[in-house]
Amino acid sequence: MRHVSAPKPNENGSAKGAKDDGPHIEVRSLQKTFGETKVLTDVNMSIGRGHIAVIIGGSGAGKTTLLRILIGLERPTSGSVTISGQDIATLNDRELNRMRRKFGMVFQYSALLDSMNVLDNVAFPMREHTKLSEKEIKQQVIEKLNTLGLENVEKRFPSQLSGGMRKRVALARALMLEPEVIMYDEPTSGLDPVTSRLVDDLIVDTRKNFGVTSVIISHDMVGALQIADEIYLLSKGSIVASGSPSELMKGDNELLHQFLESSGVTDMSKAIAPGAGDARAVEKQHEHDRKAAKLVEENPKKSD
Ligand SMILES: Nc1ncnc2c1ncn2[C@@H]1O[C@H](COP(=O)(O)OP(=O)(O)OP(=O)(O)O)[C@@H](O)[C@H]1O
Ligand SMILES: [Mg+2]
Repeated sequence: MRHVSAPKPNENGSAKGAKDDGPHIEVRSLQKTFGETKVLTDVNMSIGRGHIAVIIGGSGAGKTTLLRILIGLERPTSGSVTISGQDIATLNDRELNRMRRKFGMVFQYSALLDSMNVLDNVAFPMREHTKLSEKEIKQQVIEKLNTLGLENVEKRFPSQLSGGMRKRVALARALMLEPEVIMYDEPTSGLDPVTSRLVDDLIVDTRKNFGVTSVIISHDMVGALQIADEIYLLSKGSIVASGSPSELMKGDNELLHQFLESSGVTDMSKAIAPGAGDARAVEKQHEHDRKAAKLVEENPKKSD
């Protein structure tokens, strides 16, 4: 199921001087150089509030670097990044830290702490950043895990979970501080196709349930076409194609079509999420996938 219109904007805590009528995240003429190496040469993006934006591109294209700049872990060499109307270059370290709390991040390999059980992993940001009691924290953790379809797993350790379950635990952790933006670095890499589609569903549901703006870095063109409101193709440091899946399909950008072919997308009409008329068929397929994924998850070894 593809959500075309953005849900109600998240209303809590806009940045100082924020404008809520413009794009949530705006990147203008962004450049990033490490020594002699120009990694990003000219990146422009405009991501709407509550949208799902997918950034695709080959290995070494600069995707992770771009993500690190968006979450304020790296400073741009030139150009600007504006979040809710606020240029992040104008923020001091304290303000930048406060802004970072509005971002949830799901790392490529889930980045769960192996020595901690699920409860402690998910509770971690709340213990660090809030003054809630242990009882309240535990209650909120269990609530969030249940919302994401995880029950009775709080005492398990990450090694006792399947890959898909680990992604969900990582997502629960990223959502604990109620972020306005959630970033996913390669959320489906290393997962089988069925679990990958389940993670895609989870990204869409997370946007629907929590109203977050979602930025996803991916190699997975199939998933991108299904869930994105807007897709950005990053190649050699700049965005060479951007737009909604159907706009991109209509265009004749050579690089994009090469990327599609190398991702195994040969039939464009089947690749884009179908319109409302096909919704029932899609739901049936999802139901089928969910059943299959459940089988996969019941046997952790198969999905790792
Ligand atoms: N801190 C750094 N210092 C020097 N070079 C860097 C640094 N970070 C990234 N690079 C270089 O920037 C380029 C892009 O790296 P980046 O990790 O952003 O690519 P990517 O698109 O995420 O690739 P992948 O899909 O393989 O993860 C690479 O050539 C890399 O060596
Ligand atoms: Mg990367």
